[in-house]
Amino acid sequence: MSLARPVLVVGAGGFVGSRVARGLAADGRPVLAASRHPLPDGASRAGLVAVRYDTAADLAAAVRAACADAGTPLPGAVVASIGGWHKGAALLDTDPDDWSATLASHLTAHLDVARALVPLLEPGDPYVVLNGAAAREAMAGSGAISVTGAGLAMLVQVLRLEAAQTSAPRFHELVVDHAVAGDDRNEDPAQTRTPAQVVRALGEVLDDPGAPAVVHV
Ligand SMILES: NC(=O)c1ccc[n+]([C@@H]2O[C@H](COP(=O)([O-])OP(=O)(O)OC[C@H]3O[C@@H](n4cnc5c(N)ncnc54)[C@H](OP(=O)(O)O)[C@@H]3O)[C@@H](O)[C@H]2O)c1
Repeated sequence: MSLARPVLVVGAGGFVGSRVARGLAADGRPVLAASRHPLPDGASRAGLVAVRYDTAADLAAAVRAACADAGTPLPGAVVASIGGWHKGAALLDTDPDDWSATLASHLTAHLDVARALVPLLEPGDPYVVLNGAAAREAMAGSGAISVTGAGLAMLVQVLRLEAAQTSAPRFHELVVDHAVAGDDRNEDPAQTRTPAQVVRALGEVLDDPGAPAVVHV
């Protein structure tokens, strides 16, 4: 019997990424958890195979090495949980270096990671990018996050279109429209989504080759 190909969660050190990685593993899926930082104690007990990397340039090699060490096949799916939300200065008052840093971490990092990981996947494998409400709703004090989120939505659309022409993976955007419960960085959210709801929506996209390009939870 061949081993199931794992789901690779990138951004597994983040608030959502860490919960998604554990939730998918709790559902019985083999999970590779990629982070630029050491994962907390207990990650391996939760069934996660850690992939430690420094930059997107060494991510593919780190994935291959982790799979070889763990005796698992290469990933059959990617979940990119890269970015996040914070509130700061108004857009016109945003420090240019902070603007550039947000472009790098919330948008360019997604392209760099996709470039690194798509060659590891097979045609039709799912590649799911998480995004947030700020991508579609202008939020005062979160201008750079809204602009990069909107750009990320289009990035996924273009990747999906081009993938259809080149037999690459199927790309999806999973938009979490509300604060994820337990994240204290969200001040007094009107609504929340639990990590379990995010994991359930993600599982449906991973398992359904006909899942929509954009899914909201
Ligand atoms: N938190 C919420 O309430 C919430 C609500 C709705 C939607 N979301 C969405 O969920 C996703 C993740 O958000 P989050 O709240 O988990 O953010 P977070 O806690 O700040 O984590 C984001 C992760 O992104 C990764 N990252 C940042 N810069 C990177 C770079 N240059 N290269 C590679 N990886 C980089 C980091 O992963 P490593 O440090 O592990 O490498 C970091 O842990 C985002 O798309 C966000 O819009 C979150």
